[in-house]
Amino acid sequence: MMVERTYGSSFNTIKWIYIVLSALFCVVDAQADVWPMRKGPYLIYPGNPTDMMVLWQMDDPSTCVLEWRRAGTEALAGYAVTEPRDLTYAHRYVMTDLEPGAAYTYAVHENNRTHTGQFRAAPTSETQSVEFIALGDSRTYTDEFNRLADQICSPSAGAMPPDLIIHTGDFTTYGAYHSYWDREYFSRYHPALRRLQASTPIQPVAGNHETTAPLFNQFFPLPYIDEGLGRYYAFDYGPIHFTVLDQYNAFTTDSAQLEWLEQDLAQTDRPWKILVLHHPGWGAGTHPNHPVVQSHVQPLCERFGVQLVLGGHNHNYSRAMVRGVTHVVTGGAGAPKYIPDQSYPFIIRALAVTHFCRVRVSGQQMSVQAIDLSGHVIESVRVPFEVRPGTAPVWQLF
Ligand SMILES: [Fe+2]
Ligand SMILES: [Fe+2]
Repeated sequence: MMVERTYGSSFNTIKWIYIVLSALFCVVDAQADVWPMRKGPYLIYPGNPTDMMVLWQMDDPSTCVLEWRRAGTEALAGYAVTEPRDLTYAHRYVMTDLEPGAAYTYAVHENNRTHTGQFRAAPTSETQSVEFIALGDSRTYTDEFNRLADQICSPSAGAMPPDLIIHTGDFTTYGAYHSYWDREYFSRYHPALRRLQASTPIQPVAGNHETTAPLFNQFFPLPYIDEGLGRYYAFDYGPIHFTVLDQYNAFTTDSAQLEWLEQDLAQTDRPWKILVLHHPGWGAGTHPNHPVVQSHVQPLCERFGVQLVLGGHNHNYSRAMVRGVTHVVTGGAGAPKYIPDQSYPFIIRALAVTHFCRVRVSGQQMSVQAIDLSGHVIESVRVPFEVRPGTAPVWQLF
C-alpha cells in the first residue's frame, strides 16, 4: 500500500525497475561496510513525526534504491528509486507513513554497494519523555569530532544511537567551499561520525563559518521561514518546541525574523520551549556576548517562558541563568578550545573541554548533562520548568 501511494500511476514502471535492481543488489547485500559515498547517508527531521528525510551524495550519476523497514522485521515499509537531483549527484528522499516513536532501519543501494542506517521516528505531541543531544563547533579537528561521535554512541553514554541532535553551528572552517564540508563534516575517513550521521537526524543552526553561502541550505534543506533571506525555522519534538534563529540575517527591531520569533513563541502550545542560536547572549568568552540577544531575544524568552537557550560560537562549555532563563553554550565538539572567563556576567559554570550535552525531558523535569570525551559527566543540572523573571537562579545540582 505504501508503495502504491508513493508512486501513483508510474508505479508499474518503477516496480519493474526496483525488481531488476533488487535482483542485482541482493548479490551484494552483505557488503554493508563499504567505501563511503561522498556524503551520507545522513538524516534530517523535516518536522512531521511520520516523516524522515534521508540525503546522500554520490561520486557518479547512478540511480539508487532506498528501502526502509521497521527495526527487527523483514517486511518492507517502503522503497524508492532515486535519481540525482543535480550535477553534484545529490539524492534526497522523505520517507513517509512512519509510525511515530518507532525504530526503523534503511538501506541505500548504489552500484554494487549498500549503505545502511537506522533511526527512530519522532514522537507525537502526546509523548511526555524525550531525549536529545546538543553539540556545536565541530569544525577543524574532525578526529576529535569523530571520537566524540564514538562516545555519543557508546553504551556508557546512554542509549545508542541518540534519536535527535541539535548542532549549534560552525560545521566547517570555511563553509563556502565544498572541499571543507567534505573534509570536516561529511568526512569519508571518520566512521564513527558517519555512523552517527546515518542514524540520527541532526538539526542545524547556521554559524558564522557557514556564512550566507548557499551550501548550508543545500545540505540542510529545512523548512526555512524565508529561504532567500534567513535560515530560521521551528519544529516540535514531543513536548518540546524548538525555535532556531539565523543570526547572520537581521533579527533586531522591525526585522522579519524578530517578528516571526514573537509570533512563533506566542503560538506554540508545547510546555517546553528551547531557543537555538549560534552566538550566545551570555557566554564565558572569548567572543563577546551578543548584544541583540540580550536586548531583543531575552525579553521574548522571559515573556513567553522559554526555559533553555542553546548556543555555540565559544569553543567551550558554559552555563548561565538570566532572570529565570537558562543559557547553555555547547561549542566544544572539535574546534580549538577557548579558555573561558568565569567573570562574565551571570556565568555559573564554564569549562574548556571537548564535550556534548545530553538533554532529557520527562513531564515537568528537564535535565542537562555535559559529558566529555571519556564519558565523564562534567556537570549535571536540572532546568526549572517555570521561568520566573527577576528571581534568583533556581538551579538544583544533582
Ligand atoms: Fe562561531
Ligand atoms: Fe566556532
